[in-house]
Amino acid sequence: MNNNKDLIEGILDLKHQKNAIILAHYYQIDEIQDLADFIGDSLALSQKAKTVDSPLIVFCGVHFMAETAKILNPGKKVIVPDLEAGCSLADSCPPDRFKDFLLGYQGYTVITYINSTARIKAMSDIICTSGNAVHIVESLPKDEKIIFAPDKNLGGYINRLTGRNMVLWDGVCQVHDLLNAEAVLKLRMLHPDALLVAHPECNNAVLETADYIGSTHGMIKFVAQSHGKKFIIASETGIVYQMKKIAPEKEFLVASNSETCSCNDCPYMKMNTLEKLYKCLLTETPEVFVEEDLIVKARRPIDRMLEISRKAGLI
Ligand code: 13P
Ligand code: SF4
Repeated sequence: MNNNKDLIEGILDLKHQKNAIILAHYYQIDEIQDLADFIGDSLALSQKAKTVDSPLIVFCGVHFMAETAKILNPGKKVIVPDLEAGCSLADSCPPDRFKDFLLGYQGYTVITYINSTARIKAMSDIICTSGNAVHIVESLPKDEKIIFAPDKNLGGYINRLTGRNMVLWDGVCQVHDLLNAEAVLKLRMLHPDALLVAHPECNNAVLETADYIGSTHGMIKFVAQSHGKKFIIASETGIVYQMKKIAPEKEFLVASNSETCSCNDCPYMKMNTLEKLYKCLLTETPEVFVEEDLIVKARRPIDRMLEISRKAGLI
């Protein structure tokens, strides 16, 4: 099969034959977003993963997302187009270093961003996503001593927003952290009528100038509901596809450090292609495995997050 039309038909046939469900993140290529049964941010995807009926989950995103789906569905088969599709943020928090780090903070509550490996989740008290981080932090008493890992940009943003003083692990997402405030400012000067919409993984200098900060789902909702007609998007390129679908009359400009770089494409998210998706459905590989004891330990903080999110009406 060598053209997109054949691949798409082949994927749909296999999906039907195998009673599989395709879950995809907003940063996937447009064609994969169109093929997905469900598209969402990390919070919605983890909630969806918990409730699916199909015995076969095809996860089009990055490894930590598929791993979360497996932790929530240990009895189901979770497959991915490319097992190497990781995440720079998850990589910035190696389990051995994190374990040593925690030894220096006895008595602290550990809140961990979902962009982390199962081993890091297993060392945590509560997981959060960009869509519920504020609610998760605010669910704890004001004087609670908290460690927030691994994203220092998201953690710093929540500290400023909630007046907390959480201890931050020094990790970042290479895609969002790289975007510089000067490039964003230049674009703002060229388009003074545009609103700046940013993901909280961006660095503080960018966040300080944003008109809206939120998860991928939050950003899509904001541009759809806003009276604004033009938006500068400080996030990964894939998100613009749904923005254009939901608000075709509006204009979206992706903020970038230079016109020639593709630094706004997450190299991991973009490893998933139609060819790999087809092969993965055909062979039901590569499969995502998580050790049994790790499933038990990592599931507790994820369930705690889902419970708080449910109470807050977020899911
Ligand atoms: P969201 O949960 O906002 O979709 O973010 C996931 C992510 O990896 C952002 O880089
Ligand atoms: Fe990880 Fe950043 Fe890619 Fe999101 S955009 S998956 S945080 S590397």
